[in-house]
Amino acid sequence: MRILITGGAGYIGSHTVLELLTAGHEICVLDNFTNSSPEALTRVAQLAQGRAPRLVEGDIRDAACLAGVFASFQPEAVIHFAGLKAVGESQADPLRYYQMNVGGSLCLLDAMRAAGCKRLVFSSSATVYGEAQYLPYDESHPLDPTNPYGRSKLMTERIIRDWCAAEGASAVILRYFNPVGAHASGRIGESPTGQPDNLMPFICQVAVGRRPELVIFGADYDTRDGTGERDYIHVVDLARAHAAALPHVMAGCGAEVFNIGAGTGVTVQEMVTAFERVSGRAVPCRSAARRPGDVARSIADPARAGAVLNWRAELGPDEMCRSAWAWQSANPDGYRGNG
Ligand code: NAD
Ligand code: UFG
Repeated sequence: MRILITGGAGYIGSHTVLELLTAGHEICVLDNFTNSSPEALTRVAQLAQGRAPRLVEGDIRDAACLAGVFASFQPEAVIHFAGLKAVGESQADPLRYYQMNVGGSLCLLDAMRAAGCKRLVFSSSATVYGEAQYLPYDESHPLDPTNPYGRSKLMTERIIRDWCAAEGASAVILRYFNPVGAHASGRIGESPTGQPDNLMPFICQVAVGRRPELVIFGADYDTRDGTGERDYIHVVDLARAHAAALPHVMAGCGAEVFNIGAGTGVTVQEMVTAFERVSGRAVPCRSAARRPGDVARSIADPARAGAVLNWRAELGPDEMCRSAWAWQSANPDGYRGNG
């Protein structure tokens, strides 16, 4: 199948491109490299034994660029990763987030309409649920995101639903929980610029000596050990969820939403302990106050993805830590080191 992948050079996109190339699909990546490097795709092609994706460097908000991609590549489906994802940054500059995430998605849908392409897989986030009314979150949980990033994802979900209803299009909306880890080869992984916001890249940077210690945000939550509990999903499992979504969307499912998580929670302390065990490195930690906006626990109910897409998470915390460490130790500066 010919699949256009926006944001395909990014963390989740690059793992998904590899998965789909390996499965024999023809891939075109559209990325402006605002948060990624072309090196990721060079390595993806090496891992895929020379099967390279086409690459178009451009912005999803550039209508002429999009029209050119649809005319020359004629994708049968689109997987849409491109966007901004930092919660704190979205609070400081909400307009940029709405412009990029909502505006960018509108441009993409316009181009899809013009080209007659009616099949979409969209990256949404568990953050659309907001504060838990009950756990685990199922797809019917009330939607009340607490920050502009989450609201930009929810607005886009609603636009996609309206597009599907009006035009007979189909979309699978995947609500990711906490993606972590890397390809087992350690050749591709997450390469954040500046100080990482998320737990796993921070642990990795402490273990490799780039930072002195991990600050644990909150040791007084109502969890097993007092630290925050999350549903971590291995990025390779997540990439496979996109592969599993494709036949469903191609069959013409209308707009459907699926949680993508493991269905089990891991605390910050448990993740640090697992990381130390599999890496053999110490991760010095210090407890500090809770981070504003954090919840105690976030756990998915992934039953729907299991029943409908026949997808379930297979890789646990040890594989998450082992692969993250394989990536970080071989590429201490991410793609910037280009090693
Ligand atoms: P990422 O930043 O690594 O990847 C996003 C990619 O999109 C980058 O390669 C970036 O250069 C590109 N991009 C951004 N704006 C663009 C634009 N206007 N035009 C073209 N390309 C553009 O992020 P990721 O972690 O791989 O996330 C991918 C998607 O999944 C995002 O939509 C994100 O919101 C969503 N998501 C991520 C997480 C997470 O924790 N990583 C959780 C839930 C949802
Ligand atoms: N944490 C620390 N120290 C750090 C970083 C994180 O203790 O330096 C803790 C957090 O307090 C939290 C846990 O580790 O308890 C996970 O935090 P992350 O920042 O890795 O992940 P979040 O759950 O806050 O958010 C992530 C993404 C969002 C996405 C959400 C979906 O960043 O974009 O998962 O559940 F929406």
